Amino acid sequence: MVVTDRMKTACVTGGNGYIASALVKMLLERGYAVKTTVRNPDDTEKNSHLKDLQALGPLTVLRADLDEEGSFNHAVAGCDYVFLVAAPVNLAAEDQEKELIEPAVQGTLNVLRSCVKAGTVKRVILTSSAAGVYIRPDLQGEGHVLDEESWSDVEYLTAEKPPTWGYCVSKVLLEKEACRFAQEHGVSLVTLCPVITVGAAPARKVRTSVIDCLSLLSGSEAGFWVLSGIEKTSGAVQLVHVGDLCRAELFVAEEEAAAGRYVCCSLNTTVLELARFLAHKYPQYKVKTNLLSENDQLLEKPRVCLSSAKLVRDGFEFKHNTLDEIYDDVVEYGKALGILRD
Ligand SMILES: NC(=O)c1ccc[n+]([C@@H]2O[C@H](COP(=O)([O-])OP(=O)(O)OC[C@H]3O[C@@H](n4cnc5c(N)ncnc54)[C@H](OP(=O)(O)O)[C@@H]3O)[C@@H](O)[C@H]2O)c1
Repeated sequence: MVVTDRMKTACVTGGNGYIASALVKMLLERGYAVKTTVRNPDDTEKNSHLKDLQALGPLTVLRADLDEEGSFNHAVAGCDYVFLVAAPVNLAAEDQEKELIEPAVQGTLNVLRSCVKAGTVKRVILTSSAAGVYIRPDLQGEGHVLDEESWSDVEYLTAEKPPTWGYCVSKVLLEKEACRFAQEHGVSLVTLCPVITVGAAPARKVRTSVIDCLSLLSGSEAGFWVLSGIEKTSGAVQLVHVGDLCRAELFVAEEEAAAGRYVCCSLNTTVLELARFLAHKYPQYKVKTNLLSENDQLLEKPRVCLSSAKLVRDGFEFKHNTLDEIYDDVVEYGKALGILRD
């Protein structure tokens, strides 16, 4: 009798996004059959990389919207693993409650309900964010190390409403709701909390971290506002390469013993350290020192560090650990996207 191994199937939500596009590629390269969702399959500009990725293996693109109950039923049906990557990320939303927090929480539960219905899903891997970990106004001074035990302070965020407060609150609440739901329904849920993610991905349009991490070279004020805002509110600029993040996503999916929350961070640095590194490595772009001089609160060294010791203890190895390694392909990517000139 010939026994043929069925290909493992994974669903990645939001395949037109930056991180999800890299994850879809990695899963196909590792021999997975992949189903991915987008809100508008007819948007050829946003989805063109998915067509190219179909050359790597079986990749199906389906329409699904976090705001529509049951929308993901078809996408997760028959899947072994479901990677929840899509989420509202509009940091500047006018109504943070209605445009960010509510849809993020409800959308997460919506996909989880589809996973329960499917009956085939061995594990759900939720991509949250370090934004749900590090907003802690109680941490004064230097020398703090935060891990999975730490939660951003929702009470402070909703009362004081510092920049991007709604995004941080959305991540805390969606994680807690997802965890509660998973326990009630016997779903194996593992959560990753990635930091600012850097590196090349298949997506040909980006709107999040790549713009921020290149802002000192491109002069993007909006990007620098996010980058320096993260340092100001969290006490450091924390970085991870997108390749390491995707490997970590797959690691916590396949590693049976993986459980709970995982901070995914390979380096804690500061805006000033980053500016010095970029000035040295890419002198042709002339680091935009005007952005630095407009900000008198920049740190010389990280005040609060995020630790991925749990991930490493469980057997994961980061491949990009230095600024050199983390920035190795993102400048070329930035050029290809038109964020940086040639
Ligand atoms: N990039 C980072 O540094 C970083 C760090 C930590 C955590 N994260 C998290 O990682 C995930 C992906 O981030 P990213 O940087 O790759 O962002 P991205 O490129 O903007 O991707 C976000 C994705 O979510 C989808 N989406 C938003 N609202 C949706 C809805 N109502 N229904 C269905 N899909 C919806 C978007 O689809 P449309 O294109 O149709 O809007 C897009 O595909 C997010 O959860 C983010 O919070 C990112």
